Amino acid sequence: MNLAVFLSGRGSNFQAILDAIAAGRLEAEVTLVISNIPNAPGLDLAREHGIATAVFERATYPSGEAFGGAMMEALRAHRVDFIALAGYMRKVPPAVIRAFAKRIVNIHPALLPRHGGKGMFGHFVHEAVIAAGEKVSGATVHFVDEIYDHGDIIAQRTVLVLPDDTPESLAARVLEIEHQLYPEVLQKLTAKFSSETN
Ligand code: GRF
Repeated sequence: MNLAVFLSGRGSNFQAILDAIAAGRLEAEVTLVISNIPNAPGLDLAREHGIATAVFERATYPSGEAFGGAMMEALRAHRVDFIALAGYMRKVPPAVIRAFAKRIVNIHPALLPRHGGKGMFGHFVHEAVIAAGEKVSGATVHFVDEIYDHGDIIAQRTVLVLPDDTPESLAARVLEIEHQLYPEVLQKLTAKFSSETN
């Protein structure tokens, strides 16, 4: 079961995936890490673990098709079966979404369908949750389609929003459950995928 992780930032969810693999809680191998940001800290983490990395910047390709084609080539070269977005801040090219239908997932730091969509990332999400007066927030793992934070929901886990929460304190509490939830869901999905293809 070969996994590709797409990220744009620090990669703490990627780290949680690596920890789960090392502990035998996730039967998969990360064979490729893709980023749109050349100096994303998550890429360093990949290199430290001897995992192949690739940077794809849309602006360096003449067309969306060329961009998607190049990404598909890298995914094929690393025999990727399944894709986990982990803080990836760009849309995935349509060719990749089509080729990996139901084999590409994302984690979002709120209870979708609320507080998702374009512009809803990082502290903006937690600010919106607090501003809406939500008593509960959490993390959502969902399939990826061509609309931000839109595909079918696979699993959610909740945390309480406390009266004195700041976006930072809420983000930290949500991140903790992301790190538990994402590897668990990936294990379930990859096990299902393996049993279907064997
Ligand atoms: C996480 O909060 C995730 O839910 C969101 O982006 C953030 C990525 O954090 N999609 P990290 O890079 O995994 O630490």
